[in-house]
Amino acid sequence: MQRQTIWALRGDNLTEMVAELDLPVSLRERLVGRASSLGRGDMERWLADLPDVVGTLAERWELTMGAALPSSSSYVAAADRDSGEACILKIGAPVRGGTVSTAREARALRAAGPAAVRLLEEDLDAGALLLARATGPSLEKLCERDDDLATEILASAMVSFQSAAGTGTDLPPLSVLEDTFEEFDRGPHGASYRGRGLADTLAEIDSGLRDLRKATATARRVLQELLADKVAAVVLHGDLHHRNVLADDQKGWVVIDPKGFSGAPAYDVGALLYNPRPFPARLDDVETVVRRRLAVMSGVVAIDQALLAAWGYVGSVLSLLWSLEDGGDLDRHDVRMYTVAALRKLI
Ligand SMILES: Nc1ncnc2c1ncn2[C@@H]1O[C@H](COP(=O)(O)OP(=O)(O)O)[C@@H](O)[C@H]1O
Ligand SMILES: [Mg+2]
Repeated sequence: MQRQTIWALRGDNLTEMVAELDLPVSLRERLVGRASSLGRGDMERWLADLPDVVGTLAERWELTMGAALPSSSSYVAAADRDSGEACILKIGAPVRGGTVSTAREARALRAAGPAAVRLLEEDLDAGALLLARATGPSLEKLCERDDDLATEILASAMVSFQSAAGTGTDLPPLSVLEDTFEEFDRGPHGASYRGRGLADTLAEIDSGLRDLRKATATARRVLQELLADKVAAVVLHGDLHHRNVLADDQKGWVVIDPKGFSGAPAYDVGALLYNPRPFPARLDDVETVVRRRLAVMSGVVAIDQALLAAWGYVGSVLSLLWSLEDGGDLDRHDVRMYTVAALRKLI
């Protein structure tokens, strides 16, 4: 990013502001989508302040800013430090219910230490983290060539992250996930809004919303059962998938972008079952890929496949609900609808 470009731009209309700022398409789309569920004011304020925030942090942390990188959650940009260190500046965009989980991300990164990317600086008021920049690509391309190998690397990353991070932090327990189900039920797509007439019913079937409602009810019960099973809690990554594991010359494979939870280790298997998106296999083959990934994971992390499938099911449903909450549309051909269907058979 050229600092001048982002600095000079001002606008009072959100779409215009988003279009004018030098932001990646993924972030622009998400910002506009989120603004509808958030209220435009928060998003407009964040965008209006962003150039100054970047400028201030760049000065304080001695950065020369580079290109903005694709992200749907945050302003993420390459930066070079005067010390010569290659960095990433990440500033979280507003989410519903307050600020992004920058503090959690920082806590989880610190807890995981060598298993995660190095956290160089943080300014939680600004929602900003300065991270060491990994040198290589993510697992996204590798899984197209060799999905088993990508899964093995993810499994090892999961074990290293969790064992380095250990137990006992002030990260939220997995029981907070129950809130997502409750909010969905109360919200515009939820069960209480059922039965608005034939046209709506057909539209709901067509979009997959009916299937998602059923899956949500099941996932809620499964989550309750899983939470009742008292296993020792560990620090969880919370979004462990192909794009969040990067090759690094010095550290081998390095993990970025933790959401930070505390709970059962198997929760971390969820996101890697329905990623990367676009999915590398045909939708007809999703079930085969999911089963294969579960078998490979189970071998490396030494957790029963049925337990991994149960957490994977909960995680896939939650991910769909979070996308809806974030202003996204439901699509019955979303790969997560297929992982949900495949995992349902295994639990
Ligand atoms: N430490 C890092 N080193 C290299 N690239 C990074 C680093 N952190 C983030 N990136 C790049 O920026 C992208 C978005 O950052 P990430 O933290 O994963 O946020 P999100 O997934 O919420 O958009 C990553 O997929 C990666 O390509
Ligand atoms: Mg990410």
